[in-house]
Formats: sequence, C-alpha cells, structure tokens
Amino acid sequence: MPRWAGRFIVFEGLDGTGKTTQQGRAARRLRAMGFDVVETREPGGSAVGEAARQIVLNLSDLNPRAETFLFLAARAHHVHAAILPALKKGSVVLCDRFLDSTVAYQHGGHGLPLAAIDSMNKFAANGCLPDLTLLLDLDIEKAARRVQERDERKTRFEEESLAFRRRVREAYLRIAESEPDRVKIVNAALDEDAVEAQIWTHIETAIAAEDRR
Ligand code: TYD
Repeated sequence: MPRWAGRFIVFEGLDGTGKTTQQGRAARRLRAMGFDVVETREPGGSAVGEAARQIVLNLSDLNPRAETFLFLAARAHHVHAAILPALKKGSVVLCDRFLDSTVAYQHGGHGLPLAAIDSMNKFAANGCLPDLTLLLDLDIEKAARRVQERDERKTRFEEESLAFRRRVREAYLRIAESEPDRVKIVNAALDEDAVEAQIWTHIETAIAAEDRR
C-alpha cells in the first residue's frame, strides 16, 4: 500500500466553484497511483447524513441554529460510520465539504458565534480532522452565474443573497489565512484542467512531504 494511505482530503468552497468535478478528477488520479479512494460528501455520506440533507436543504423556515445542529448531527454520524472506518482501512478519503463549511456558512454567512461553532465542530468530528483542505476560491458573481447555469433544481442555499455569499467567501479566506499548512487556496476561475493541475500540485506536495519523513 502506498505510504500516503489513510489520509483525509476535503474540498471546500462556495456553491458553483466546481468542487464536485474536481473531487472526481483527484479521485481518478489517486486511484491511478494505486490508492484505495473513498469519495463522500456533506451533508450526506451516510443514511443519517442524507436524511439531514433533505431536511436542511428543503425546509424553508429552518432557523440557522437548528440548521447547525442538523449539519453537525449528520457530521458526527458520517465520521463515525463512514470516514473513520475508511481511514483505518488505509483508504484515502475525499470529502466534498466538512468542518470549514459550518464555520463559513453558519458563522460567516449567518453570523452565529465562532467559538460555539468551533467547539461544536470539534465535538462532532471527534478528533477526525482533514490532513489537507483545498479551498476552491472564486468571485461570488461568477460562482452565482455557474450555479444558475446548472440545470438543477435550486436548493435553499443556492438562493441566498450575494451579501451572504460574500460573507461566506470572506470567512473561508480567513480560515485559509489562519491555517496555511492545512488549507490551500485554489484559483477556481481558471479552466477545469488548470484547476485540476493546481489541486494535484498540493496533493503531490503532501505525498512527497510524507515520503520524506
Ligand atoms: P449542496 O447541494 O451539497 O451544495 P454543493 O453541491 O455546492 O456542496 O448543498 C450544501 C449546502 O449546505 C451548501 O450551500 C452549503 C451548506 N452547508 C452549510 O451551510 N453548512 C455545513 O456545515 C455544510 C456541510 C453545508
């Protein structure tokens, strides 16, 4: 098994930044190198997570505090039932959204206190923290246009205002600034191949750093 097995990589960013596509591309490359890869997402990734996803994304009068608990309940179950077992088996786990989404959306977007979100996040993750987080960063207007162009039913979150998205983006950038070793900013305005190349450079650097140990 390659030495970098059992690692946890998270893709973060506003809706419309291309996280899902890029996660798929990274998974293909890692598999080609011989890694066993598990792809998952939040909210979702387990039965409880998918149930919470349906409530959170579709219930129009859910308040931010209640919504936070649903995201965290989903996360606690996802970590316990899917992420930790896969990491223990030596798989590389790729996850679309994790802890930083709650800081960016519930704290940055909705203004809930950071200290509360941080401690609830720690409780839900139970020590399971990402080794590498790729923050796909994109101008909010461009991200909103990409969401509109997608031929999907809009979720409640995708209808949030530009001001909300601006706060979310700023919160993400603050996280990246405060944890530069874990969180790498990726310019998501470039074409898909160029975004993939940036992401792959970060993953290869992480693999090489591990091999030097
Ligand atoms: P989703 O349809 O999965 O959007 P995307 O495909 O862009 O990830 O919806 C997830 C929404 O939930 C997204 O707008 C961000 C939001 N969210 C939070 O507000 N807090 C969280 O902790 C998580 C995991 C997601």
